[in-house]
Amino acid sequence: MLELRNVSLNLDGTNGAGKEILRNVNLKLERGKLYAITGPNGGGKTSLAKVIMGIYTPSEGQVLLDGEDITCLGITERAHRGIAYGFQQPPRFKGLLVEEIMKIARPNLDTVQLRGYLRDVGLCPEDYLDRDLGPGLSGGEIKRIEVAQLLARNAPVTILDEPEAGVDLWTIQKLISIITKRYKGNSQGIAIVITHNEQFLPVCDEIILLAEGSVQERGTPEQIWPLIRDDIVCKMKGQCGGSVYGVQ
Ligand SMILES: Nc1ncnc2c1ncn2[C@@H]1O[C@H](COP(=O)(O)OP(=O)(O)OP(=O)(O)O)[C@@H](O)[C@H]1O
Ligand SMILES: [Mg+2]
Repeated sequence: MLELRNVSLNLDGTNGAGKEILRNVNLKLERGKLYAITGPNGGGKTSLAKVIMGIYTPSEGQVLLDGEDITCLGITERAHRGIAYGFQQPPRFKGLLVEEIMKIARPNLDTVQLRGYLRDVGLCPEDYLDRDLGPGLSGGEIKRIEVAQLLARNAPVTILDEPEAGVDLWTIQKLISIITKRYKGNSQGIAIVITHNEQFLPVCDEIILLAEGSVQERGTPEQIWPLIRDDIVCKMKGQCGGSVYGVQ
């Protein structure tokens, strides 16, 4: 189980003043489940992922993995404990090839498996294995390669930050299917997908709605999607002073 206990995060704002990014977040996430985190832009989703990965250290609170307090552990130690994070904006590594980064993700990967993971994300291995991970790859291509890496890695805790962002309409459904097939009901792992995609939400076991740095709602898609849909309608009509979740 991955647990966040009373996690708050303050970062420096533009004028140097402290800015509260996360406020008193409490979450317990179980193995075998696929979680969706959604919410307005700037609500704190990526920051929460970075707190779990150890990129940001919480100002208050604790992060626990299978009962062990990992709050003070760095990124590398957390990676060794099986936490993997796919960035919202994946870094580009000029000079590194697709085949090489896949083997870094999972060193004992054989050629058949490696090619299979690239096909899973809709990329033809023959065209991509020797491509450089520098600026020559498009946004959607680099995103798909990152998802392929995470599939290959098969970590006990996987966080995908908007895996569908920039991916074309012909491939999104394939990507959702492969992520769902891999992580839903997989008793070995916990998967968290940060998403704004309407097609992703219904296939997840639970939706966590994060807004203004706090967990506002949590439940099954049947429980949470109507609340989001009503809030979208309310915001569009400009009623109730707009959104109850503080959407600008
Ligand atoms: N390093 C930082 N320094 C200062 N402020 C930051 C930093 N990182 C994030 N923020 C601020 O924290 C808030 C939450 O950002 P975050 O990236 O977590 O949002 P998000 O929910 O992932 O949004 P989006 O849906 O647009 O990806 C934003 O107001 C953002 O400007
Ligand atoms: Mg984000």
